[in-house]
Amino acid sequence: MAVISTCVMVWLVLTYAWAQPLPYQDPTQPLAARVADLLGRMTLAEKVGQMTQVNVTRLMGRGEWDRGPLNEYWLRRILIDNHVGSLLSGGGAAPVPNHPAAWAEFTNTLQRYALDSRLGIPLIYGTDAVHGHNNVVGATIYPHNIGLAAAWDPALVEEIAVRTARDVRATGIHWNFAPVADLGRDPRWGRFYETFGEDPLLASELVAASVRGLQAEGRIAATVKHFIGYGQASTGLDRAPTFIPPRTLRDTHLPPFAAGIQAGALTVMANSGSVNAVPVHASHYLLTEVLRGELGFTGVVVSDWNDIEKLVTVHRVAATFADAVAMSINAGVDMYMVPHDADSFTRTLIELVEDGVVTEARIDEAVTRILTLKMTLGLFEDPFTTAAEATGIVEVDRDLARRAAAASITLLENDGTLPLESPATILVMGPAAADLAMQMGGWTIGWQGIESRAEMPPGVTVVQGLQASAAEGVTVKHLQDTRDTAAVRAAADEADVVVVVLGEAPYAEGYGDSTSLALPAEQLTLVRTAAASGTPVVVVLFAGRPLVFPEDFWQAANAVVMAYLPGSEGGTAVADVLYGTHNPAGRLPFAWPRSVGQLPLTYDALPGPQTPEPLLPFGHGLSYTRFTLGRVEAELTSGAIALHFEVANTGERSGSKVVPVFLERPPLPVMAPVRQLVGFTRVTLNPGERQRLTINIPLKRLSVVLGDVLSDTAPTVLPGVYTLHVEGVGVRVTVP
Ligand code: BGC
Ligand code: BGC
Repeated sequence: MAVISTCVMVWLVLTYAWAQPLPYQDPTQPLAARVADLLGRMTLAEKVGQMTQVNVTRLMGRGEWDRGPLNEYWLRRILIDNHVGSLLSGGGAAPVPNHPAAWAEFTNTLQRYALDSRLGIPLIYGTDAVHGHNNVVGATIYPHNIGLAAAWDPALVEEIAVRTARDVRATGIHWNFAPVADLGRDPRWGRFYETFGEDPLLASELVAASVRGLQAEGRIAATVKHFIGYGQASTGLDRAPTFIPPRTLRDTHLPPFAAGIQAGALTVMANSGSVNAVPVHASHYLLTEVLRGELGFTGVVVSDWNDIEKLVTVHRVAATFADAVAMSINAGVDMYMVPHDADSFTRTLIELVEDGVVTEARIDEAVTRILTLKMTLGLFEDPFTTAAEATGIVEVDRDLARRAAAASITLLENDGTLPLESPATILVMGPAAADLAMQMGGWTIGWQGIESRAEMPPGVTVVQGLQASAAEGVTVKHLQDTRDTAAVRAAADEADVVVVVLGEAPYAEGYGDSTSLALPAEQLTLVRTAAASGTPVVVVLFAGRPLVFPEDFWQAANAVVMAYLPGSEGGTAVADVLYGTHNPAGRLPFAWPRSVGQLPLTYDALPGPQTPEPLLPFGHGLSYTRFTLGRVEAELTSGAIALHFEVANTGERSGSKVVPVFLERPPLPVMAPVRQLVGFTRVTLNPGERQRLTINIPLKRLSVVLGDVLSDTAPTVLPGVYTLHVEGVGVRVTVP
């Protein structure tokens, strides 16, 4: 009897202890207290594990890149022996088969494994969902950022980010390495299309919108990347050494990062390259003084892919991996995307702490940030997803993708051929007419874009879009084989209009660097052959950047439509624009160069004896209707200038109008761009409709970085008479 009651007692005590959560497991405790409690229970090895991120293919199959089933040996070695606290799916690192429910099962299995570790710390899983949840077959693919930027519509970017966050979380992923806050200052760069274009203000507004959308429900962490200077892309080559004067760093490159951080971005990714001969991964000035000190960032800094090791192998600023780890962690990197060799990183960092080269305080600081991130996202309480939730993302939001693609499309040239007025026969041809890989670009299913028919995301091509939306009596013919010029000519002769869909083959990162910005010659031959028939020719471009064409291309085409990399509904959206059911309103978020020799070329050049003339200016874009602007009035309030004016649609079709405001500064002690975007708005009007609009321009947008050549001071607004240009109308404002 006594034995039994002792047993019951022991059992009761154990059950009580078991049921009683430790402080860090208790969601009713303050977050900081939970983090401190957990940190206090961790060994050095466990802490260093939290600072380590591994690409999931390391845990799959038999090699670093094998997408075979999860491998028990590596699960144990990475998640238990190395205590690794974060995984990522880099481009293409997907379960097989690749569909949302498989992702849910996959991430749940990994999470369960991690939760079985001594302290049960959940994994934080990251991916690059840079235009929708683009690694997952079945998810809706949105236009790449360069296209979204052409819509000049922060609300649209925010809406897409909300849906993307839901899709990402539904597959058990908590961290999105997006948005890119680098500017696209050189289209030769293979990552130009990942940016929101060349202008700091437009990019800032869109980065902030993206961060707000991704984090709206508090279940996903956004990443502003790649801090900082990556977008300068000197020589047009990915990760080439970059030189940015401190002034330009401050007035041009910092603002989009500042905007993303102000919008609450929980994480920042460091730039793989170097700025002014210092690799960013080794720069205490950039990663700590500027990022934390000036921008007030308090979240997690993650390295980019393998970039600590590259301090030895690429940049040659460290002789050994240990030197590199010390440099980078001491500069301010909190988590290393190793991405495969967790052993060497964890072993090295532990030794560096034991040798006093990296302090345990620095480790605690990084781990505190990482645990805070995990708790902020609710991962301790809600670590899993369900197959049903994941499957719910299939076939949703196609209408939003269509709207986004249509809003981005920019009409570059049009002699009245568009919109198509009931032609009897439309001939469609060209390499991108029925090719989803070209339509979606890089970072789609695979890193370099769609590579296999077996993993094809749903989508509508231009041929399908034109066929599906064709009016009664209109025939849409697709000429698939265009190798025979005579056959192309004959088909063009018989048609009422020829739609030639051209484009770039998909690419990502350095693989997309281009020294020509040219399309293959066969693509131009198609346009020339079609034009020789005398039948009107509409060219549609699927490209991540401006392309350089010979002079006769622009003459041969009656209309040129820039569709960027429009995603799943690109074909439908192109049909909407060609048929006129959507009136194009996209405006270029970059200057379109005449030649590669002009590069780098941006609209915000400083005054000089000669001003480079682009082929098409930043902000260019045609419409099917006409807008007229009334008198512009400026009102100076305490911190801002309010511009009031009326816009009227004086044409025959409803449409949207983007109104940018460009600043011209008075003579100041330092040079400033001749023209600089300081505000914009977007309005939709029916024919005959007019609307009064106000654009608020915070005075700080007038600022310049004062001082001599090496100046690194905070931007200042000087008094003077400034001129604001709105669609060719200038208004003067005296700033006291
Ligand atoms: C890219 C990052 C990306 C990371 C993970 C790197 O090569 O520069 O933008 O987040 O890979 O895929
Ligand atoms: C991965 C990408 C990564 C790249 C970096 C690729 O193999 O899939 O996500 O950005 O390597 O080199």
